[in-house]
Amino acid sequence: MQFLGLALSLLLVTSILAAPPNDYALRIKETVSPPRGWAKHSIPPPDHNIALRIGLQRPNFPVLERHLYEVSSPDHERYGQHLSKEEVEALVAPHQESIDSVNEWLFSHGFKESDLVKSPAKDWVTVKVPVSLAEKILDATYYVWKHIESGDSLVRTTGYSLPSHLHHHVDVIQPTTLFGRFKKSTSTIIWSDKSSAVSDAANGDLAPIVDATSGVTVDASCNENITISCLQQIYNIVDFVPSARGNSIGITGYLNQSANVADLQQFFVEQRPDAVNSTFQFISVNGGQNDQTPANAGDEANLDTQYAFGLSYPISPTFYSTAGSPPFIPDSSPPENTNEPYTAWLDFVLSQADVPLAISTSYGDDEQTVPFSFAKRACEDFAQLGARGVSLMFSSGDKGVGDGDENPATQQCFTNDGRNKTEFIPAFPASCPYTTAVGGTYKFPEVAVPFSGGGFSNYFNRPRYQDAAVGKYLHALPKGLYNGLFNPNGRAFPDVAAQSYRFRIILKGRPALIGGTSASSPTFAGFVALLNDVRLKAGRPSLGFLNPFLYSTGLAGLNDITSGNNAGCGTPGFNSTVGWDPVTGLGTPNFGKLKEIVLRR
Ligand SMILES: *[C@@H]1O[C@H](CO)[C@@H](O)[C@H](O)[C@H]1NC(C)=O
Ligand SMILES: *[C@@H]1O[C@H](CO)[C@@H](O)[C@H](O)[C@H]1NC(C)=O
Ligand SMILES: *[C@@H]1O[C@H](CO)[C@@H](O)[C@H](O)[C@H]1NC(C)=O
Ligand SMILES: *[C@@H]1O[C@H](CO)[C@@H](O)[C@H](O)[C@H]1NC(C)=O
Ligand SMILES: *[C@@H]1O[C@H](CO)[C@@H](O)[C@H](O)[C@H]1NC(C)=O
Repeated sequence: MQFLGLALSLLLVTSILAAPPNDYALRIKETVSPPRGWAKHSIPPPDHNIALRIGLQRPNFPVLERHLYEVSSPDHERYGQHLSKEEVEALVAPHQESIDSVNEWLFSHGFKESDLVKSPAKDWVTVKVPVSLAEKILDATYYVWKHIESGDSLVRTTGYSLPSHLHHHVDVIQPTTLFGRFKKSTSTIIWSDKSSAVSDAANGDLAPIVDATSGVTVDASCNENITISCLQQIYNIVDFVPSARGNSIGITGYLNQSANVADLQQFFVEQRPDAVNSTFQFISVNGGQNDQTPANAGDEANLDTQYAFGLSYPISPTFYSTAGSPPFIPDSSPPENTNEPYTAWLDFVLSQADVPLAISTSYGDDEQTVPFSFAKRACEDFAQLGARGVSLMFSSGDKGVGDGDENPATQQCFTNDGRNKTEFIPAFPASCPYTTAVGGTYKFPEVAVPFSGGGFSNYFNRPRYQDAAVGKYLHALPKGLYNGLFNPNGRAFPDVAAQSYRFRIILKGRPALIGGTSASSPTFAGFVALLNDVRLKAGRPSLGFLNPFLYSTGLAGLNDITSGNNAGCGTPGFNSTVGWDPVTGLGTPNFGKLKEIVLRR
């Protein structure tokens, strides 16, 4: 390593001597094929602004990763000894030489120190540039690209270059080649004219359902519509009252989704009467709105807040709304075109001293639409939160093994990299090994919901904590089945699951039924917050990054889901089986058991 650094810094000196800064030899840093489904639309106005995010190399990330696994593994002596914000920042800080080289390069293009916005660790530098200048300094050609099916637009280039001597100092620059279409994972809304699910259930004369395996008894109505009470019954959480100090839960909102407070109150009146008049803290990121006009209540935001906060009441709740997202509308010329908005949220939240201990996000992209260089950086940002003791839940997607974009004639799924290869389509950030991906179930006794997103990353290798569980699944998979359709060595997801179908919410003053793994993720997060309560009350630290726990001691507190499959790409997809599977992961929470298990360490 050291030798390489020396050799490269000599190279740097040579190139400074050889040419004035503006004439550094540019070399291609990244190119992508024009992705499937997008068409060149027009030339962006030259004064259109771009907030270029430059990710400086983080030479010590492997050290941070080692700390993350140590403090998150119940069998390690450092379990629970989470890192401070400052410790994490020190571990992702770039070399001074990288900072200096990038500064010098930007200064040579006329920027001043005051134009550069740096993250606390100085690992990200953001600079606002007109697209014409971005094209010059990156030797790139930006176009307005239009997504044919949805009409969404983005200002992107299919490649960019950097001076040779910067290649090893810079991991990634975006927005350049990132063609993601950030999506929420909710299914269709069914409006309900019944004013009260509770009275419906009371009037019903169906006997409660008993699960012969677990002995858990659940109201018959839960097979029709899910409520807070159903989730408490299914996941075995009778009579638990959170009371620890310092506990917290967060929901992220994007795409201009507002969580409506009046709807939340109406939901509490119906489903969580003791929470009536309680509300959440709203935090705006990048100017994100939480518009309280009843008609502007968001389905996703209402679902997420009503269930996460309803399940975990009275644990301190926060709702974030982050602005700055695709779709970009070329005609209305917004001031700048940003990246995937979760990086704006990550920037913000990583700079905060206090972060909610359990956070759920029900948005994601097809992994293939996020360039690897960018996915890797975002994934490393999630790892930082994990090392600080935060549990991050993500929905696993709602299209089974596919992307919902199958060829209508053949039902094949295509890679969007110009090869038109048929492959299953994994979801990101669910495919990041430092997140907890939540798949979907329905009915009671629970079975896998057919739309539950699951599969194997093409970007991230399988982490060690999954080796035994996933190895067993792969070993049992019929030989040769789906050869070439998925990467058996990839990070496998989801990790766990929860109910995901016909959740009764209040939206715009009316009851509605809604579903998707969008419902599973906040549900699972609600249970994680309750488990943190158990730990905090006993004087223990929060659970933090969950996966090493879930795949080891936590396993005994999960209900294994063993039937159903997640069809997609013209195939039946994977089967839900005994043990881990790429449909429901390790299973759904059994709170009664988990609350004992989390106190073992
Ligand atoms: C479930 O929701 C549907 C549709 O809103 C409604 O017709 C039905 O009465 C509800 N059932 C129960 C048991 O709440
Ligand atoms: C909620 O607040 C309203 C208005 O202040 C009050 O009338 C009502 O009694 C409160 N309800 C509960 C359950 O605290
Ligand atoms: C966000 O939604 C509000 C209405 O809720 C609307 O007035 C506003 O223009 C939207 N903003 C963006 C950036 O779409
Ligand atoms: C991929 O499919 C698209 C649209 O179906 C077609 O235009 C293109 O030529 C195909 N590319 C290859 C390499 O087959
Ligand atoms: C799923 O189960 C069915 C029925 O047992 C079997 O035919 C099929 O091969 C299995 N698929 C996978 C992916 O394991």
